[in-house]
Amino acid sequence: MTNTRAGKRFRSQEWFDNPNNPGMTALYVERYQNQAYTRGELQGEKPIIGIANTGSDIAPCNKIHVFLMDRIKAGIRDGGGIPMEFPVHPIQETGKRPTAALDRNLAYLSLVEVLHGYPIDGVVLTTGCDKTTPAMLMGAATVDIPAIALNGGPMLDGWWKGKRAGSGTIVWESRRLLSEGKIDYEEFMSRVCASAPSLGHCNSMGTASTMNAMAEALGMSLTGNSAIPAPFRERMNMAYETGKRIVAMVYEDLKPSDILTREAFENAIIVNGAIGGSTNAPPHLQAIARHAGVKLNVKDWETIGFKVPLLLNMQPAGEYLGESFFRAGGVPAIMGELRKAGRLHDGVMTATGKTMGENLEGWESRDLDVIKTVANPLRENAGFLVLSGNLFDSALMKTSVISADFRKRFLSTPGKEGIYEARAVVFEGPEDYHDRINDPDLKIDETTILFIRGVGCVGYPGSAEVVNMQPPDAVIKAGINHLPTVGDGRQSGTSESPSILNASPESVVGGGLAYLRTGDMVRLDLNASRMDALVDEAEWQARKDAWTPPEIHNQTPWQEIYRTHVGQLADGGCLELATAYQKVARDLPRD
Ligand code: FES
Ligand code: MG
Repeated sequence: MTNTRAGKRFRSQEWFDNPNNPGMTALYVERYQNQAYTRGELQGEKPIIGIANTGSDIAPCNKIHVFLMDRIKAGIRDGGGIPMEFPVHPIQETGKRPTAALDRNLAYLSLVEVLHGYPIDGVVLTTGCDKTTPAMLMGAATVDIPAIALNGGPMLDGWWKGKRAGSGTIVWESRRLLSEGKIDYEEFMSRVCASAPSLGHCNSMGTASTMNAMAEALGMSLTGNSAIPAPFRERMNMAYETGKRIVAMVYEDLKPSDILTREAFENAIIVNGAIGGSTNAPPHLQAIARHAGVKLNVKDWETIGFKVPLLLNMQPAGEYLGESFFRAGGVPAIMGELRKAGRLHDGVMTATGKTMGENLEGWESRDLDVIKTVANPLRENAGFLVLSGNLFDSALMKTSVISADFRKRFLSTPGKEGIYEARAVVFEGPEDYHDRINDPDLKIDETTILFIRGVGCVGYPGSAEVVNMQPPDAVIKAGINHLPTVGDGRQSGTSESPSILNASPESVVGGGLAYLRTGDMVRLDLNASRMDALVDEAEWQARKDAWTPPEIHNQTPWQEIYRTHVGQLADGGCLELATAYQKVARDLPRD
């Protein structure tokens, strides 16, 4: 049986329609046709479209996908394909201990196995909560069959007493009020829960909205996919259209390798600056690029991304939330404004089958209060700085969240603008931080720099979102909300803290942070993109020589496998051995 692809067989026919091995073919067909499918459907009349479902009761940020499945499947059917839904290992940012980050590579691995080992011709990747999006894109890049991303969408805007209550951002604000004694535990809980009024992922520009904007900026979704709130009618329409489109992509043989080019990643880096995106985007994009075989470097985030203006007025860098972002035009409006200013690569191919420039034709801001123009941005130079020095080879600093107060306090000494020297206080992970942050013996005052280590990919494991450490209660009561903080872990994309984070290599593998001691003086120099411990070289070397790696305690087999093979955040936190496997769909599995 042949299909309409000019005599070219579908990949799924190697399973379902292979007269050279009638025994196996019959076994494949008999069990799949015992559910919804006829023999003809399986044997090449139409392509088989997998739907990677990341939603479930245990993954509430993506639960909406359970309800979108009908619309995705209807779109696939109407497009002329056969839908086959399958589950994905859950990655719930606010559920999984010790970190959801540990499971990104596990979900990636299992997606690669499913797409490689089953009769699937193309796939809809359902995305949403932070790590689900990169895990899906990494898997699709490794396998390289036609693939399209469908976001579940953010929750509706949260409100508390007439003010917008954004995911995560309300937590950081309320934690400070709790420390100051201005609210009690009950009000703290009510405030935070008010930020989650419906199904969907975080409604601020945290890692979820960022990574879905990245998927769209890379060209891996339909135009406008990322910002539609989960409960909106338009979200169901997008599910249907995405299902319909993936079938055409199979006929066009439009694969991730046609879309995920170096230029596409540069577009994504620029969009991340314009939306005030999460500091989690660099490691995730790095991971996707490596699995796609595209050369990207953490320093690209500064060279390409730093001088990008902040266009989006959305928490944590601004004031609005997801509903306003959507109504102002979402990612296509951001990209439309960047494009008008000549800031994007127009010619890159996308999942629509058209170039990015064609997709963006006519798109611009629909609400200048929410999405600004390049000529009149919220602020200039809103991207990341990539610092280096004797404490790390690289660490990120998100400049779009540096408040005027923070800049004045720490970075505006006359004659030394952008330079700050202070005493370090070092914590060994979040438990140590919580135990000792209010200890008067540490002498933390409004000038101190706080460090946390042992919280990177190998150390935590998975790298924890803990670098945005709150100052001691006494310092907060004195009116100072942020001290400079530094660490080898990450921080939540919803945090408004201008931390220096993702320090690589991490301390437990012998990175420079390992040798820092409480009481050392440290210099931050934003003009030179450097941070250094001011410890003389002989002393620093002596500390290195005396250092022994801390003991690692694995609690599960996966933790041990992960720690054995994971790389550093600067390199995407990939399973290093996995990056050698490229375009694996070309190598059919044995029968
Ligand atoms: Fe899942 Fe923010 S916790 S999207
Ligand atoms: Mg997070």
